[in-house]
Amino acid sequence: MEILKTIRDTKSCISELKKQGQTIGLVPTMGYFHDGHLELMRRSLEKGHATIVSLFVNPAQFGPAEDFDSYPKNLQRDLDLAKEIGVKAVFMPTINDMYPKGYKTYVEVEGLSNVLCGEHRPGHFRGVATVVLKLFNIVKPDEAFFGQKDGQQVIIIKKMVQDLDLDIPIEVIPTVREEDGVAMSSRNAYLSPVERQAAPILYQTLKLLEEMILEGERNVSLLLEAGKNNILKEPLADLQYIDIRSTDDLSPLEELRGEFMIATAVKVGPARLIDNIVLRV
Ligand code: PAJ
Repeated sequence: MEILKTIRDTKSCISELKKQGQTIGLVPTMGYFHDGHLELMRRSLEKGHATIVSLFVNPAQFGPAEDFDSYPKNLQRDLDLAKEIGVKAVFMPTINDMYPKGYKTYVEVEGLSNVLCGEHRPGHFRGVATVVLKLFNIVKPDEAFFGQKDGQQVIIIKKMVQDLDLDIPIEVIPTVREEDGVAMSSRNAYLSPVERQAAPILYQTLKLLEEMILEGERNVSLLLEAGKNNILKEPLADLQYIDIRSTDDLSPLEELRGEFMIATAVKVGPARLIDNIVLRV
């Protein structure tokens, strides 16, 4: 497995692979791999792509009071796991390589970036869209792989691909969960054992609303009220939002119709946890 530390080396590695007739699958990550990340890599490999994993904790997507400095890391373990799975190369640029002095250009996906997580993390999705577009331009993948765990991120990236005519198919992998339903996340590492026991409240609440919908409930404010009350029952959970939005454009729904996402963000101790499910009626 190659370890690519510069944009230049990465571009020449990619053009070599393309010359050999290989297709390129890109899996963007910030490292500290868990089975969710590994599932994305496996899917790309299954499809026969020479698989490039980017590992870059992107400062542009963290707010000033957020966890950029303390974001969990275990580089050697990540490289061992990627190699074992069969990844072709890991691209791990420096901040200076990605955002050299004088860097000025950012991508804003309007309207989709300032709701849900965007409302609580101003500038976050601008940083995500910018780094993902840069990764697309550096790696020029034939396909890119993202997780449903970050449902809003997926919608924003798909919109950017459409609006900017990027012609890169985006495959979305279902959320990989722990046995108790908790969505795998690098940030789960921040939880103390007691806090970890509170983490299932997110998925339990999403499942509760799903059940109500399956039983015929269509009133969004009533569903959201039930969701909030359920999260309130967990004393360690500090609700940021729970919402139901169209998966087309993240617009709020009054009545449930078509495909929609129920999404929630909850602070548990030092960790900001997110989860979502997609349903259609
Ligand atoms: P990161 O949080 O490292 O996640 C990398 C990819 O793994 C994302 O596509 C994310 O949705 C996916 N993922 C994380 N947890 C998952 C789970 N439990 N099940 C399935 N997929 C999961 O998301 C980012 O990094 C960054 O924003 C990035 C896209 C790399 C841009 O910096």
